[in-house]
Amino acid sequence: MRPRVTVNCAMTADGKLAGRRRRQITISSPDDLARVKDLRRGHDAILVGVGTVLSDDPHLTINETPEENPTRVVLDSNGRTPDNARVLDGRAMTIIATSEDCKREWRNAEVIRAGKGRVDIEILLSRLTEMGIESLLVEGGGEVLWSFFEGGFVDSYSVFVGSMIIGGRTAPTPVDGEGFDDHEALSCKLVECRQLGDGVLLVYEVGNDVG
Ligand SMILES: NC(=O)c1ccc[n+]([C@@H]2O[C@H](COP(=O)([O-])OP(=O)(O)OC[C@H]3O[C@@H](n4cnc5c(N)ncnc54)[C@H](OP(=O)(O)O)[C@@H]3O)[C@@H](O)[C@H]2O)c1
Repeated sequence: MRPRVTVNCAMTADGKLAGRRRRQITISSPDDLARVKDLRRGHDAILVGVGTVLSDDPHLTINETPEENPTRVVLDSNGRTPDNARVLDGRAMTIIATSEDCKREWRNAEVIRAGKGRVDIEILLSRLTEMGIESLLVEGGGEVLWSFFEGGFVDSYSVFVGSMIIGGRTAPTPVDGEGFDDHEALSCKLVECRQLGDGVLLVYEVGNDVG
């Protein structure tokens, strides 16, 4: 048993999550930001990689009241999350998932140690299920999304395509990592396509039985 996993991100019209300096840029339209807020509200937990914490320092919250915010989860094998990161602000429960070798602890966070070397996502997902988390929203970045797609853990993928070009061969894209071999490209089923302000929302079902 694992939580239902939804991936959501925003990319530029040339397919980048951010520019070559990997700093956060506003890609979403106001309508899309409102949609993302609703999406977060509908999930038990929101997950990002430590790369996103170090680049963007996101809050990953919806409201001021801690009880109303989904649990925040950071994939951080070696314990690189800074003590002053916003995900540790106490405005929601936070879980930092590390490898078994990492001994670090944080104030305002529970630690789940899963896997050797890198966080083992399958083990993590089963621990989250044991904690009562039934739905997980994965927001990035490109390395973490690759691991979720590669492992076959994604049920739904939504991407907002904003109207800007940023370029840069090293700029992150929604799915980076090693990539699939040509004949192994993952088939998805387009289930929604809608204009939101000056961009477009695309929603796909993902899995072995779609496409
Ligand atoms: N536009 C958007 O919607 C959006 C959303 C989020 C992020 N972003 C952008 O994306 C960029 C950050 O992306 P990123 O790819 O550099 O970082 P990331 O995917 O956020 O984090 C990657 C890091 O997570 C850790 N990790 C732990 N377990 C992992 C596993 N099983 N698989 C993969 N990673 C694992 C690894 O570090 P350790 O080996 O140290 O554990 C890895 O380097 C930033 O530029 C940010 O602005 C954009």
